[in-house]
Amino acid sequence: MGQTLTEKILDDHLVEGELETGEEIGIEIDQVLTQDTTGTLVWLQFEALDMDEVQTEIAAQYCDHQTYQFDFKNTDDHRFLRSAAGTFGAHYSRPGNGICHNVHKENFAAPGKTMLGSDSHTPTPGGLGELAIGSGGLDVAVAMGGGPYYIEMPEIVNVRLEGELPEWATAKDVILEMLRRFSVKGGVGKIFEYTGPGVETLSVPERTTITNMGTELGATTSIFPTDENTEEWLSRLGREDEYVDLQPDDDAEYDDEIVIDLSDLEPLIAQPSMPDKVVPVREVAGQSVDQVMIGSCTNGGYEDILPAAKMLEGRTVNRKTDLIVAPASKQASEMLAREGWVAELMAAGVNFSEATCGACIGIGHVPASDSVSLRTFNRNFEGRSGIEDDSVYLCSPEVATAAAIKGEIIDPRDLADELGDLEAPEFEMGDNYGTTADDPDLISPDEAVDDELIKGPNIGDVPLKDELESDLEGPALLKMQDNITTDHIIPATQDILMYRSNIPKLSEFTLSRVDDSFAQRALDADGGFLVAGENYGQGSSREHAALCPMYLGVEGVLAQSFARIHKANLFNFGLLPLEISEEDYEKFEQGDDIEIVDDVAEAVRSGQEEFTVRVNDDWELTATLDASERERQILADGGKLSHTKKQAEGG
Ligand code: F3S
Repeated sequence: MGQTLTEKILDDHLVEGELETGEEIGIEIDQVLTQDTTGTLVWLQFEALDMDEVQTEIAAQYCDHQTYQFDFKNTDDHRFLRSAAGTFGAHYSRPGNGICHNVHKENFAAPGKTMLGSDSHTPTPGGLGELAIGSGGLDVAVAMGGGPYYIEMPEIVNVRLEGELPEWATAKDVILEMLRRFSVKGGVGKIFEYTGPGVETLSVPERTTITNMGTELGATTSIFPTDENTEEWLSRLGREDEYVDLQPDDDAEYDDEIVIDLSDLEPLIAQPSMPDKVVPVREVAGQSVDQVMIGSCTNGGYEDILPAAKMLEGRTVNRKTDLIVAPASKQASEMLAREGWVAELMAAGVNFSEATCGACIGIGHVPASDSVSLRTFNRNFEGRSGIEDDSVYLCSPEVATAAAIKGEIIDPRDLADELGDLEAPEFEMGDNYGTTADDPDLISPDEAVDDELIKGPNIGDVPLKDELESDLEGPALLKMQDNITTDHIIPATQDILMYRSNIPKLSEFTLSRVDDSFAQRALDADGGFLVAGENYGQGSSREHAALCPMYLGVEGVLAQSFARIHKANLFNFGLLPLEISEEDYEKFEQGDDIEIVDDVAEAVRSGQEEFTVRVNDDWELTATLDASERERQILADGGKLSHTKKQAEGG
């Protein structure tokens, strides 16, 4: 039987296990990336593991989420990250140089390689044939030290693309269509492999928009085959020697197959406040728009801003609407500037920002209260923009620009009819495309500035947890609904994010957006559980969302289901993730006394799957631990840091 493209890459990197759906496999990692919000912990953990040098082909540290140095704590973090990259042998990308996925794509991502990144949108370079997976920072630290990355072999779904996108429909509409069909939970445990004749009609940047936002489906990753477009794109960046022809075998068998006819697509939009609330733009047309933002790792490239610039040529932004363009990389800004497009945008009334994540996590450009913001980003979870009860829509740059011109949501086809002279912008790589690859803001290990760690006063140690106990009991500290995101658990806003390297302080904000008394109650209870519905922990790879509850004494989470990366983070920090039925979830009330009847430490180590949970000494339920042998040992040892140290000591 032939192999899928995913199987071929995994096979090449397999160090443990077999490629059978649901089986745990260990794979070798070629490249790692980390960013500033997760990176400090990655390096502190790398240090705590007594590692002294990066072992992967490429390791890169980016400063992108919080680039504005409002406070010495941010600047201290950046200096610490530069010193860690220099000390241990990683590339360091300075604040303002761009978003990790985009800078990595431009400089390092290559077909056939594996990559692990401590950011949930790590799958972005799947668009050029790299198998890239998001994980918690501790997994990245271990991979960077040469250890394998373990994962349950996902199902592989063939997404067959047919036809060609019509005018005004874009790659963003392909992924919004996927979200409309699958929802934010529909990709859990899956890898989406794109095939079919429609692939060659999409440029590499269009493909990476699709693979980037596969994360919103909950997918492990997404990947495209390579072709002439990939080769040309790499060669424009001076990296043609990294091209590899990658195709699935003709007789490859997939776990599932779906077909998207690109020619049927039209401009789509995700309504507030979930990326899967997708409808045609025409269904919500006419709404007044206060703010439009073009940027983020999804649609912040040269090829995303160019259409906006072309649509705005000879026009201006509507007086009642602010249009902010935040490029995803400095290289994109520089290319646009060299071609004169930045001047055009400014003349049209655009606020042209530095290359940063920023507003994507509520740092800067926070929408006004009770207002509508249209963004080309990948997430619109409630409050993520920096204001509770926000009203953020997700759409393509074309739809966003049309709204900025009109001052209200409008299908760009209708705007073109209204204006008479507005043409659908075509993608093209200008003469300056890729010519700025020699980047002084990307410091290679050979050019390292520091050779020892520099820790300011806000950079603390990583807390460790003791071995799992035999008796676990405590209150249900909080009962939460479905789809709780890592933004709910540890918000990424500026006032909170600056404590990312100071766990005692950061923990005070744990779940504060759900219940601001939670942290104190958890500390007072000295143990206890979280109860949640479906898809607990969706969103980012932020391991603080497991580490901070652990620091507060939370013992475990009882949920109907878990998001993949967050579940791995719970194991990594020694928190017991138990699955419960919807019926039992409904019966729980906050404050209930929970006791796990079994000898937990023994049961976890011995492979027991079902646990008896007694509630209020009144009723019992059966909860399930779905964990591999390796995850069980990690959990029992009190988390991956303790586990890895114990292994190194021969324990
Ligand atoms: Fe940054 Fe937002 Fe992407 S925070 S990495 S632009 S999802």
